[in-house]
Amino acid sequence: MGVVTCIEDLRQLARRRIPRMFYDYVDAGSWTESTYRANRDDLAALRLRQRVLVDIEHRRLQSTMLGEAVSMPVALAPIGLSGMLRADGEILAAQAAERFGVPFTLSTMSICSIEDVASHTGKPFWFQLYMMRDREFMVRLIDRAHAARCSALVLTVDLQIMGQRHKDLKNGLSAPPRPTLANWLNLMTRPAWCCRMLGTRRRSFGNIVGHAAGVYDTASLAEWNARQFDPTLGWHDVAWLRQRWQGKLVLKGIMDVGDARLAAAAGVDAIVVSNHGGRQLDGAPSTISVLERIVDAVGHQLEIHMDGGVSSGQDVLKALALGARGVFIGRAFLYGLAADGREGVLQSLTIIRQELDTTMALCGLTDIRLLSRAVVTQSTEVSLNHPL
Ligand code: GLV
Repeated sequence: MGVVTCIEDLRQLARRRIPRMFYDYVDAGSWTESTYRANRDDLAALRLRQRVLVDIEHRRLQSTMLGEAVSMPVALAPIGLSGMLRADGEILAAQAAERFGVPFTLSTMSICSIEDVASHTGKPFWFQLYMMRDREFMVRLIDRAHAARCSALVLTVDLQIMGQRHKDLKNGLSAPPRPTLANWLNLMTRPAWCCRMLGTRRRSFGNIVGHAAGVYDTASLAEWNARQFDPTLGWHDVAWLRQRWQGKLVLKGIMDVGDARLAAAAGVDAIVVSNHGGRQLDGAPSTISVLERIVDAVGHQLEIHMDGGVSSGQDVLKALALGARGVFIGRAFLYGLAADGREGVLQSLTIIRQELDTTMALCGLTDIRLLSRAVVTQSTEVSLNHPL
């Protein structure tokens, strides 16, 4: 490929550079993938309002997320198995985020452990939590996040049971890949990935193996999930966590105004409007289509972030305009990670920043913190009712 100019270019590079099972893991939704597609399609359908003859020389993208200064209001979402897309992937992505000045969120189901990432970064990162049945393990995990100076806990609330993803089942997704003939044949076409993987000792779930009682090996996310993720998770657990964790507490996976109100009442600091990138409840609406209603209901009580289908700076701008304080990106940075490690993540972030900056300017705006709904419209007719 020639010059990389957009996230789509990185996606294509990623597809060629990593084993198929990990590419498929990233680039998929559950069942018919209708929600996965809706996230992107509904963002794309929003039109932007062009304003001209405004002084746009000096523009500001800096903002805050959870009270932390960010160079642009975009965070790296927690993604399980990132260290399978590239050897030591979570460390590399965290370093890129730190260099760029945006938050990094480490997944419970990461390959590199909390301690690994903390010892290779200088700034506190955020830690995403899945609630397991083994509460002693949970207490230790939260204490480990605290010891690693994580500044926020992000509790994912929409994956206590896993949405079915056809490709993962067909590929026999595991970390590391099982030594089957099909896997060997595919790995032989990815020698650079294999060499890097052989050069690291981080090839399984680093937060879990050797930390959870009796777990010395867990190859499959789905298998661990089925055994350990606690389907009884409820608001009493959020209250327990609120009491136990003094730092910022975020709930990720809120799609409903009623749930958003309960989250506000539970005293969490923020929510992420999320359908897990269309990987859980297929048939759920897109995140951008429910964002405004949730902002109207609880935006005055807590910070609201959004993820799902965000693959350009324009998408970021649209979510911010509809009331999100910040936006989480998943696939958009994973393609960079898979294509070119730390440099690839930096490239993803640079592409998004440039698109965001230029779009803001072409909309006649100069400060990201002052975006309003007037910037976007659903139809091709720009509503002139909203003054900018
Ligand atoms: C886990 O978060 C997944 O979507 O696989």
